[in-house]
Formats: sequence, C-alpha cells, structure tokens
Amino acid sequence: MPAIPSKPRVMISRALPEEVIARARSRADVDLHAGDKPLSKTELIARVKDREGLVCLITDTIDSSVFESSPGLKVVSNVAVGFNNIDVAAATKRGVVVTNTPDVLTETTADFAWTLLMATARRLVEADRYVRDGKFTQWEYMVLLGGDVHDKTLGIIGFGRIGRAMARRALGFNMRVLYQDAVAADPATERELRATRTDTATLLRDSDFVSIHTPLLPDTRHLINAQSLRTMKKTAYLVNASRGPVVDEAALVQALKEGWIAGAGLDVFEEEPKVHPGLMGLSNVVLAPHIASASSDTRIKMAALAVDNCLAVLEGQTPPTPVNPEVLGKR
Ligand code: DGY
Repeated sequence: MPAIPSKPRVMISRALPEEVIARARSRADVDLHAGDKPLSKTELIARVKDREGLVCLITDTIDSSVFESSPGLKVVSNVAVGFNNIDVAAATKRGVVVTNTPDVLTETTADFAWTLLMATARRLVEADRYVRDGKFTQWEYMVLLGGDVHDKTLGIIGFGRIGRAMARRALGFNMRVLYQDAVAADPATERELRATRTDTATLLRDSDFVSIHTPLLPDTRHLINAQSLRTMKKTAYLVNASRGPVVDEAALVQALKEGWIAGAGLDVFEEEPKVHPGLMGLSNVVLAPHIASASSDTRIKMAALAVDNCLAVLEGQTPPTPVNPEVLGKR
C-alpha cells in the first residue's frame, strides 16, 4: 500500500475567522495560537521551528532569527498587504516565499481613509462628545464649524491600488486630485480619475487634504516631517492609513498644537500600539487603532487569501500573491 502523504505543517500565529481555520485544517496540520496577545519572539520561534508554513500578522516580527531556527520553513504568509514586519531579503536568501494580501482590502481601506478624512474635517468625534456631554442645549450658529470637503484639492501620496481607490471616491466630491508616486499612472487612468502627478512639495503646498498611501520603506520613513507640515496650508488636514513611521509623530503633535495645519486623522502610529501622548489631548485629531481594513467581509477575505497563499506553496502550486516571486523559480 502506498503511504498516505502527510499533511504540511503550518503555524497560524493568531485566531482568524473560523471558516478559514477550518479550511486550513482540512489540508494542513495546523498549530493555531488562539490567544489574544501576539506570541513573544521566543514563543514564536519555538512553535515555528518544525513548521513548513507560517501564517502571521503585522504584529509578528519575522526576521533572520526566525528563518535561522526554522530550517524547514518554506512560506511566510502575512495577513496584510503591508509586509514591513518581515525581513523579505532574509527570506529570499533562504529560499522562503513571502506572500501578502493585496486587492481584497483595497476598497475597505479607502472607505476608512475617507471616513477619517470626513470625520476630521467635519469634527465628528468632537460633535459626538458635545452631544453626549449634554452641551446640545440649543441649536448654535457658530458651533463646531469644520472644513468643506467638496470642490477641494486632495493630495494622495502613493498612487497604488488604495491611493487610486481614494481618488475614485474624490470624483463624487468634485475634488481636484494631485498625486505623488515614483511611477506615473497611465494617461487613461489619470484622465479617468482626474488626477495630476506632481512632486511632494507642490502636493503639500496645494492640497486641502493630504492622504498617505505609501508603504513603509527607508525612503518613506518620516516623509511627513516638520518641514513638510510647515509646507502644508494652515487649513489643511492630514490623513494616514498606511504606516505610522511615514509621519514624524512628534512634529505632527507640534503642527497640530501650533496650528500649522487644521487637523489630522490617524489610523496608524509610529510605535504601535503606543500613541504619542501629545496626540491624546488634542481635539483636532481623530485616532483609530489600525482598523482601516477591519470590515467583517474583508477580514475573512484577507485570512482566506493568506491561507490559500500558504497552502499553494506547500502543495507545490504558485501562490496567488507572492511578494518575492523570484524565489518560486528556484524551488
Ligand atoms: C495591512 O494590510 O497592511 C494593514 O495595515 C492591516 O490590515
């Protein structure tokens, strides 16, 4: 009798939607960390060391120490589009495939960046607090005045999938769109989205809203700093739903306190889950706990794609969304 091939061994570093875990279990021997806190590095290494696949989250730092102690590891599948928590160069060197979850979260993330934009400009969180604090005792003419959104200029830093989804929504508000990206969009896309490519300084100077959608790279760390914040209009708003370290948070606190800009909406922070204490007391900033992709549907799709990526590699198939496809050819 031919031996039944054993299932690939996969570690999943946090609880994901049940139906996705069930799918993983049907095709792999799964070790699931179901706790509500990320594993420490030591615990993670201990549980991954004899695994071929790892499905992980942005709260897991996957660096060379993980690769060195897991000689059988073939794939690291991040349940996120961003993958700055993984040392991709180290993975590539060891022939480990890294995958992420693009596309499935684009529209949900853009919806939320727009939520931050609107909430910040129209002071929604302050308004909610005003009502709950019993201050709405009569209709006031000059209370909680905000900034208009329609007909204004939206500056988008990073014109990938999510940046473009932001621009598409801006059409409905009759906004002018400026964008900055290393790569120009094709002319048809620029026409369709009524978007004009410009340099960062012009974008910062001319925009009423600046929304960041660039990955965290050595070049984009502190892309928004004291100098850039001083370049922005005093009436402008900053939105960040990409990665916290793209913005120098200390400089942003100063800008918000001293009125260099009108406000900010932040879903991400420099040292998550820590938030700069200076931001906490300010009323002209809306703060969210990194939830831009957190709709029920999208979180299921992200988990499913991550598991599919992982199983595809372990079953000798091409994963749908590899980050380092060069490794595939060498396997
Ligand atoms: C991502 O996908 O990179 C988000 O930050 C988490 O959903």
